[in-house]
Amino acid sequence: MKGLILSGGKGTRLRPLTYTGAKQLVPVANKPVLFYALEDLVEAGVTEIGIVISPETGEQVRHETGDGSRFGARITYILQAQPLGIAHAIKIAHDFIGADPFILFLGDNFIRGGIVPQVDAFRAQAMDAQIILYEMSDPSSMGVAVLDADGRVQRVVEKPKQFISPYAVIGIYMFGPSVFEAVNQIQPSARGELEITDTIQYLVNKGLNVRAHKLADAWVDTGRMGDMLEANRLVLDVMPGKIEGSVEDSLLEGRVILEAGARVIHSKIRGPAIIGKNTLVENAFVGPYTAIHHDCVVRNCEIEHSIVLENSQLENIGTRVADSLIGRNVCIQRAEGPAKTVHLMLGDFSQVGI
Ligand code: G1P
Repeated sequence: MKGLILSGGKGTRLRPLTYTGAKQLVPVANKPVLFYALEDLVEAGVTEIGIVISPETGEQVRHETGDGSRFGARITYILQAQPLGIAHAIKIAHDFIGADPFILFLGDNFIRGGIVPQVDAFRAQAMDAQIILYEMSDPSSMGVAVLDADGRVQRVVEKPKQFISPYAVIGIYMFGPSVFEAVNQIQPSARGELEITDTIQYLVNKGLNVRAHKLADAWVDTGRMGDMLEANRLVLDVMPGKIEGSVEDSLLEGRVILEAGARVIHSKIRGPAIIGKNTLVENAFVGPYTAIHHDCVVRNCEIEHSIVLENSQLENIGTRVADSLIGRNVCIQRAEGPAKTVHLMLGDFSQVGI
């Protein structure tokens, strides 16, 4: 069985971060969301993995992820020159996949608890496809599946305008070789893409064996800031504490991960929280569900329920930073000059709450 991870896309809903980086590389608990997909595949015994990349962010994804050896996998990169849809990505990966069954994993999808039960079920039974469903009160921004009385997949609709079922189809799919006929036959949708939902519907219409697995643990499509914070909470909630950095005159409460070279001086950290390599936390409060990546400085300020990417500095901020996603090389400092003014230099699509 092979794996196919999609790591293209423009990440428009995560701008401005995605102007300079792939959305799949935004860290969740200090690890790119894409790496969780890779680890899930390897854990399920799938080590031959293709990653579909785009011209915009492909080099960065390749640079960060490498040949896969550190994950125990062998990675082949496949360039999708234009964003023509998920089913189009399957089409261009045909040579890589050959006649093997495979798992398609959208690189911005995060699932807690891995995919071993689903992969075992797929391997044990002769299925043409398996989709994974997640029950939601409003799945209208997803592909949605309608099941018949016996739990068989009847209909799959992309982002239905009206409520047809509570089951969102998550971005992890398993296919046999019959999927290639489907992706070659379907036509582009109104948004100009070859849709994965149309692909699945094609297989259903042909009377093939398409099964649905209902997910018990949590799933997040990390397209937006709130979703990133949610995935971060889900990981930090189950991550064991570990102190590899140094602590001086400070209080650490709950589960705290201090990566190697991190320094906490005269501060309080209330877990679950993670402080990255060589980051300095001084005279500061770091509250629950915060992930601060490597080489940052957090000094004379308070922060909670936030994600901070590498090389950023937060210093002398008078108010608590909360519910925030802060990019790479960002500098937030108290401004000189009259009180009640703010000095800003923000990229396009930045969001500031004052
Ligand atoms: C895509 C699929 C959709 C699926 C979703 C899961 O949506 O088209 O069927 O439910 O991923 O993340 P998109 O991200 O293209 O809006």
